[in-house]
Amino acid sequence: MENKVRYKWATLGTGVIANELAQALEKSGGKLYSVANRTYAKGVDFAQKYGIEKVYDKIDDVFRDDNVDIIYISTPHNTHIDFLRKALKNGKHVLCEKSITLNSEELEEAIFLAEQHHVVLAEAMTIYHMPIYRQLNKVISSRRLGDLKVIQMNFGSYKEYDMTNRFFNRQLAGGALLDIGVYALSFVRWFMTSRPNQILSQVKFAPTGVDEQAGILLTNAEGEMATLTLSLHAKQPKRGTIAYDKGYIEIYEYPRGQKAVITYTENGHQEIIEAGKTSEALMYEVLDMEEAVAGDKDEMYLHYSRDVMKIMTDLRKEWGMTYPEEEK
Ligand SMILES: NC(=O)c1ccc[n+]([C@@H]2O[C@H](COP(=O)([O-])OP(=O)(O)OC[C@H]3O[C@@H](n4cnc5c(N)ncnc54)[C@H](OP(=O)(O)O)[C@@H]3O)[C@@H](O)[C@H]2O)c1
Repeated sequence: MENKVRYKWATLGTGVIANELAQALEKSGGKLYSVANRTYAKGVDFAQKYGIEKVYDKIDDVFRDDNVDIIYISTPHNTHIDFLRKALKNGKHVLCEKSITLNSEELEEAIFLAEQHHVVLAEAMTIYHMPIYRQLNKVISSRRLGDLKVIQMNFGSYKEYDMTNRFFNRQLAGGALLDIGVYALSFVRWFMTSRPNQILSQVKFAPTGVDEQAGILLTNAEGEMATLTLSLHAKQPKRGTIAYDKGYIEIYEYPRGQKAVITYTENGHQEIIEAGKTSEALMYEVLDMEEAVAGDKDEMYLHYSRDVMKIMTDLRKEWGMTYPEEEK
């Protein structure tokens, strides 16, 4: 297989999603260069599984390793900013799992550091890298659907009521917004012409004080609107509907979507759009990151991450919901 991986990648974290990243690099013809993990033994197991040569004794060693070009951060949300600071200050390019930070203040700091050190910073938000979304942009630009009116977007995930796991645990920055709302908001931001500037919401908290369920209504300067429903204790179909004055788009399994159906309402005609593969979601992120680091791609949609983070920060302010790190 042709090796499309030019740079040396290190993973910081060896959990569920880090496994997918390791496999995505393999699918791209390469492999991870090194592994940093809080629990060293798990780092060693991970390295053995993927035939990776180097495991650091301490996490901080990864930032000082001159051989490392790109660090992939896949630890809980509240740990991201400390790792981002260290990685960016050491001139490493970073692909960081969602949610990229806890709040806008942290993200602005990270963006400043990335600019100062001339490195690429990107959020591993699958929506920004799946080919279907770029394909849909072409349809939208052709204007055959007309003007965007309303977006409906849901994300429901059934998590057991275990208040110690990362989904409900306030100490691990739990809550629906940062875990799954970030997908729904990234989807909405992708299609909206500008960032929503009016926000209404209702929230239900879990016993730990993190958001378990929410309904959100967004409007932007163009009058485009979106409704979102999120739940951490009820599954919902991962289906997004984007309605224009001449038709609507439905997209399924949208975080890693590969298929959309467009219905033209004037005559009922349906068009099926297929692009990319759900199973290769992380490979698209890897390849986009490689291109961005090489200077062949100037768009990693960090400005969308910034807009989404601002909405999440504003929502939590309105809800009076903080994380321990924000109370210091
Ligand atoms: N993009 C996606 O499709 C997707 C899917 C799932 C998750 N994610 C995101 O990826 C991140 C990790 O999720 P996951 O499901 O992979 O989690 P996971 O399986 O629980 O793995 C968590 C990893 O973080 C490490 N860790 C935990 N607490 C830490 C701390 N305080 N300091 C340093 N390292 C720590 C763990 O190290 P130990 O081995 O020492 O425990 C482990 O390597 C989250 O931000 C999540 O939102 C993204």
